[in-house]
Amino acid sequence: MSKIDFTGRVAIVTGAGAGLGKNCAVQLAERGAKVVVNDLGGARDGTGEGSAAADLVVEEIKAAGGEAVPNYDNVAEVEGGENIVKTALDAYGKVDIVVNNAGILRDKTFLKMEPQNWDAVIAVHLRGAYCVTRPAFENMKANGYGRIIMTSSSSGVFGNFGQTNYGAAKMGAAGLANVLKLEGAKYNIKVNVLLPGAGTRMTEDVMPPEAFERAKVEYVTPATLYLCSEQCEETGVYINAGGGHFSRSNIQTNLGVRFENMPTPEDLQANWDAITNMEGAKYFPSTAEWSMENLKSPVIKN
Ligand code: NAI
Repeated sequence: MSKIDFTGRVAIVTGAGAGLGKNCAVQLAERGAKVVVNDLGGARDGTGEGSAAADLVVEEIKAAGGEAVPNYDNVAEVEGGENIVKTALDAYGKVDIVVNNAGILRDKTFLKMEPQNWDAVIAVHLRGAYCVTRPAFENMKANGYGRIIMTSSSSGVFGNFGQTNYGAAKMGAAGLANVLKLEGAKYNIKVNVLLPGAGTRMTEDVMPPEAFERAKVEYVTPATLYLCSEQCEETGVYINAGGGHFSRSNIQTNLGVRFENMPTPEDLQANWDAITNMEGAKYFPSTAEWSMENLKSPVIKN
């Protein structure tokens, strides 16, 4: 096993003033990366004045002998994303790693989900991933190297009561990764998806107290660091990480059926089990591969 080492690498970690992002930034720096510690400060729901969180993390990294610069831009704005990447280019000349981690939470059941709470959550998680990754991708493409993490959530992949805005945003970030992994492939840019579970301010009233205690952020960071490493050749993979448990989730599709003639809704009703039975279902890395497989579906004479 080769040691995972980030000497010579430049990393951007968004929302790195607290929680998972902070630990990721600290550990990347401990292993030699030069880190842009982005965080605009503010409360869990994204409101409030900016705090000095990014500065404190930079001080901590420097005190331990590492290299880091702070950035206070909002990931959800185009100029914010550009400025975060500019901070890396000005300080260290390139970007090798982007960990899209910044996040807010505004949970409400669907009928109480007012537009401002919908928009704010989609903006930080989904638009934020776009705004930061796009200028970074340009530099990675020019350098022929990149590692990008989209922080998603089980709330999107499986569903979680009261989080329609968050689940939609997090699934959107996974969809962004599904496509970007294809566009980055020939430039050695790997794009992977992290589904963390950790006791942070984001989960303090969502997780049961014993689970919160057990789920230290340090249990998630090994997954983030591995996915950011040169050694990681995977792309487009969703990794669940929390409390010492690691697993992979993916979207699978079965072979289904093909009707010989124009089907009626009753034809679907009559063949529902064949259409929906997941036996033999497979993961497809792109639409193109899935379309080819479709041609093999058994034909139903109707
Ligand atoms: P946290 O609340 O401790 O940290 C999030 C950080 O993002 C905060 O420091 C905040 O100031 C920063 N931030 C918020 N909006 C920002 C913006 N517009 N621009 C820049 N920075 C901004 O939360 P935690 O738990 O560390 O979450 C990190 C990521 O992991 C989030 O994307 C979250 O949705 C995701 N996640 C966390 C889970 C958990 O169990 N803690 C579960 C699933 C996903």
